[in-house]
Amino acid sequence: MAADNQFDVVVIGAGPGGYTAAIRAAQLGLRVACVDDWRNDKGGPAPGGTCTNIGCIPSKALLHSSENFENAKRHFSDHGIRIESLAIDVEKMLARKATVVRQNNEGILYLFKKNKVTFFHGQGRFEARAAEAHRIGVMGSETMLSAPQVIVATGSIARPLPGLALDEKRVLSNDGALAIPQVPRRLGVIGAGVVGLELGSVWRRLGSEVTLLEMLPAFLPAADEQIAREAFKQLTRQGLKIQLGINIEAVDLGKDAIKVSYLDSNKSAQTLECDKLIVSIGRLPNTEGLNAQAVGLKLDERGFIEVDAQCRTAVPGVWAIGDVVRGPMLAHKAEEEAVAVAETIAGQHGHVDLETVPWVIYTAPEIAWVGRTEQQLKASGHPYRAGTFPFAANGRARAMGDTAGLVKCVADARNDRVLGVHVVGPMASELIAEAVMAMAFQASSEDIARICHAHPTLSEATREAALGVEGRALNI
Ligand code: FAD
Ligand code: NAI
Repeated sequence: MAADNQFDVVVIGAGPGGYTAAIRAAQLGLRVACVDDWRNDKGGPAPGGTCTNIGCIPSKALLHSSENFENAKRHFSDHGIRIESLAIDVEKMLARKATVVRQNNEGILYLFKKNKVTFFHGQGRFEARAAEAHRIGVMGSETMLSAPQVIVATGSIARPLPGLALDEKRVLSNDGALAIPQVPRRLGVIGAGVVGLELGSVWRRLGSEVTLLEMLPAFLPAADEQIAREAFKQLTRQGLKIQLGINIEAVDLGKDAIKVSYLDSNKSAQTLECDKLIVSIGRLPNTEGLNAQAVGLKLDERGFIEVDAQCRTAVPGVWAIGDVVRGPMLAHKAEEEAVAVAETIAGQHGHVDLETVPWVIYTAPEIAWVGRTEQQLKASGHPYRAGTFPFAANGRARAMGDTAGLVKCVADARNDRVLGVHVVGPMASELIAEAVMAMAFQASSEDIARICHAHPTLSEATREAALGVEGRALNI
């Protein structure tokens, strides 16, 4: 066998966690290898992981395309724009999405080259013996990589419904749901979480009748209740049918239709007939083929690699980040951990504050939040004050014709420190950055309120919500 390829750091996985860790470690002067097994449709490398290939990027491409279509169909006439005939070319829309994905894959390969990260295409696997946690074989080749520091960033996979295989033709994970070749007449979705709402919205806008079946009695229970209520109202008004508190009994893949039998929230038997079914009931950490336990990595009861607050595993010199460890399964959380671990390896001080990781759901209206919700504060008995401001009272939102939703700011009643900001409305994904910054700097609601915000902007709604904490909003 050929001699080992020696590096300072080997990163397994090139999703947002892995590729960011590789780039940052290389920037800090370390010799870095990154091994990733994702293949494009020609069998070539496609770094970027779930996020780039079947997650964040392609979903946002389709959300943008379908929102354009919906705006043209329903809203352009309000602006005096007449469209005589309108049609959607799904093939072209999917081809555009594929181009966007490819550009991102190529961008990562370019960044690897620029930063002198050595990329290996294939599955990385720890050598089986306990003493070999720092040797990684690249499957399908004779290549062996070794390094004193190894970062595992192997991500996650869609959780299947027990007894129902995901064939990606009729029963779809996010993978198939991003590539449906024609708009299905009836689309069923199991799970009204983030994937279900985003991808359900895409196909609803293009003409599908979309029904989401959600097990929990509450809609988006992680979000602030007031925000979730408003989002539910807007999304159902658009035509998404969302049934809460259901219990799936059986799924029958009939020739003409998929029949989902379930008990509704009143325990009455119901059947949903659909042409395609998306199963979006969460994701599982991916340690398949890694040989993780053989080298001493510990998995918790849900299969996540156990790590401490700095992402150290049970094996010295082996770190794990991103979806394969505890915490929110978000690309930017993986990236934060990546930078922190790379910097810690290089002798600096890396730190990730999970309290200030924002959440965004890219529906229309968008839903975004950071920090604690009003119900969490109530439950813990934390004294707080809340201010809200509706987009209906914001000049820019009115000019855009996009007035649904609100911003809510919750602050500590004792010292006014911002504890959470919650938005449902236009561009919530961008507005939340100001709130994250405020929380990271431990700002008070008064700090946000005293900062000059350009007029007319949506961000003035954030300022007004902060003013509202002291009951002194100006424009309502
Ligand atoms: P991944 O992105 O899953 O990457 C892991 C990589 O490791 C993959 O390429 C995998 O093939 C590779 N790998 C696994 N095992 C091995 C091995 N043994 N050897 C070599 N390679 C291996 N998050 C957001 O923040 N914003 C969004 O808008 C967003 N949208 C999403 C939309 C959808 C439909 C889905 C499903 C997810 C979305 N997410 C979003 C979540 C986001 O995709 C993940 O949180 C993120 O990709 C996690 O990054 P990661 O690097 O930990 O893992
Ligand atoms: P999710 O956890 O967001 O939602 C899954 C939903 O399915 C939950 O509401 C759950 O109660 C429900 N559910 C579970 N089992 C069920 C059953 N048997 N029957 C009916 N309902 C059931 O998971 P999802 O949507 O699959 O997404 C996975 C993760 O990917 C997200 O949690 C998020 O971390 C990430 N993601 C992030 C996005 C973003 O940042 N915009 C977009 C898409 C995904």
